[in-house]
Amino acid sequence: MHKIEIKNLHVSIEDKEILKGVNLTVKSGEIHALMGPNGNGKSTLLAAIMGHPKYEITSGEILLDGESILDMTVDQRSKAGIFLAMQNPQTIPGVSNLEFLKYVVNAHNDNSKKLKEIFQEIKEKANGLDFDLNMLKRFVNDGFSGGEKKKNEILQLKLLNPLFSLIDEIDSGLDVDALEVVSKNLNDEELKKQGMIIVSHYDRFFKKVNPTHAHVIIDGKIVKSGGSEIVDKINSEGYSWVKGNE
Ligand SMILES: Nc1ncnc2c1ncn2[C@@H]1O[C@H](COP(=O)(O)OP(=O)(O)O)[C@@H](O)[C@H]1O
Ligand SMILES: [Mg+2]
Repeated sequence: MHKIEIKNLHVSIEDKEILKGVNLTVKSGEIHALMGPNGNGKSTLLAAIMGHPKYEITSGEILLDGESILDMTVDQRSKAGIFLAMQNPQTIPGVSNLEFLKYVVNAHNDNSKKLKEIFQEIKEKANGLDFDLNMLKRFVNDGFSGGEKKKNEILQLKLLNPLFSLIDEIDSGLDVDALEVVSKNLNDEELKKQGMIIVSHYDRFFKKVNPTHAHVIIDGKIVKSGGSEIVDKINSEGYSWVKGNE
């Protein structure tokens, strides 16, 4: 069993405090739904866990299996088993998607895998994603549709199978079929051994991935935690009832 512990985390961007004391523990096998109105710090929390340099941690702790990761770079955190599926995946002109995925896989395997072996793995993992293999030849995310970018994130998640996945609005921009494919992939028995934090606004997505825990973040703080009943209540009543509790 592995564990991420976030303790009284304060995070600023360009001297503006965004997270104002977040406490959250996620263990292997748990799926945490993270909800909250736009602009309240959900992506900031995930980026801070991943180690984005723009997000300054002014106080608090992030522990992976009891050890602080705050001094670790993004690639060290990735190698330690943390993965972020980004809300807005970056385009990398000039780098083919296959080259990129090869680099991603090999960075986690001491460069031990040959391209042929990696290609085989990619084909296998892409298969369940309804992912057009022609996208491997194109530059990373360049001209990909919203749905294709999101599937590319899930492809990386499947290739790495990390200890913890932080999944930021993967369902935004997906059509009904793609939503079904993505949630089916996340429901894979092997992947579900991970701990996950999943950000989404939509109950229809959470219904498919069955979170074990749910949290609401407002103004940089988790103001409500519980089980999936929180997702149901937000779906029917919005956020006013949570705000009223502050
Ligand atoms: N790179 C950035 N530079 C400046 N402000 C930012 C940056 N990223 C996020 N913010 C601000 O931080 C706040 C929280 O943003 P974010 O974590 O993206 O919210 P959420 O994911 O909950 O919609 C917002 O006010 C947003 O404008
Ligand atoms: Mg966000």
